[in-house]
Amino acid sequence: MIVAIDGPAGAGKSTVARGVAAALGFDYLDSGALYRCVALASLEQPGISPAAHAAALEVSLGERVLLAGRDVTHAIRSPTVSAQASVVAADPAVRVALVARQRDLLGSGDWVAEGRDIGTVVAPAAELKIFLEASAQERAARRAREIGADPSEVADEMRIRDARDRERDHSPLQAAPDAIVLDTGGLDVDEVVARAVALARTARSAGGR
Ligand code: DC
Repeated sequence: MIVAIDGPAGAGKSTVARGVAAALGFDYLDSGALYRCVALASLEQPGISPAAHAAALEVSLGERVLLAGRDVTHAIRSPTVSAQASVVAADPAVRVALVARQRDLLGSGDWVAEGRDIGTVVAPAAELKIFLEASAQERAARRAREIGADPSEVADEMRIRDARDRERDHSPLQAAPDAIVLDTGGLDVDEVVARAVALARTARSAGGR
């Protein structure tokens, strides 16, 4: 079974997706980490195109993120890499390579996969699709707390990144028509996880699995 969790930056996707995966005993896929690894690789080796980096990406996702054997768990979260990730994510050739890789992973087992296009492109047949939303102000405040930065600076960066993610031609950020939209504003993580877990259990019994 696949639970797809999409939404904009700072809506709480990672925390919620990890919580849901732990509660259900599913594997967790952070698809953004793949785009971030391509971004880091292309910042470090700008002579190679992002598409070539994506096609040859040697990455291991888990508690720690390893890029060609190097621990980049923290490096891929820097503001520079975040900005570059939304640039490389607009490149259709990068997306084709990374979507293929995600489909490979999701092909067997039970997953909670988190990103921008899981429900629309990567796994359109996912048994449950959740789209997390929150106000721009709330998302910026949440992300600023996470990385210990100034909320107004984070809000500015997030506005640019969001616009790029939503307006790109190739797989823009949008809710799948059959996604359940959950506004995380004013809810704590445990409440959102509990709702998502209940939805997943219902979807699983409806599918007879
Ligand atoms: O979820 P995140 O902030 O780690 O994502 C980093 C960037 O990658 C973000 O700008 C959007 C992009 N991304 C994407 O286009 N598609 C995905 N499935 C996941 C992330």
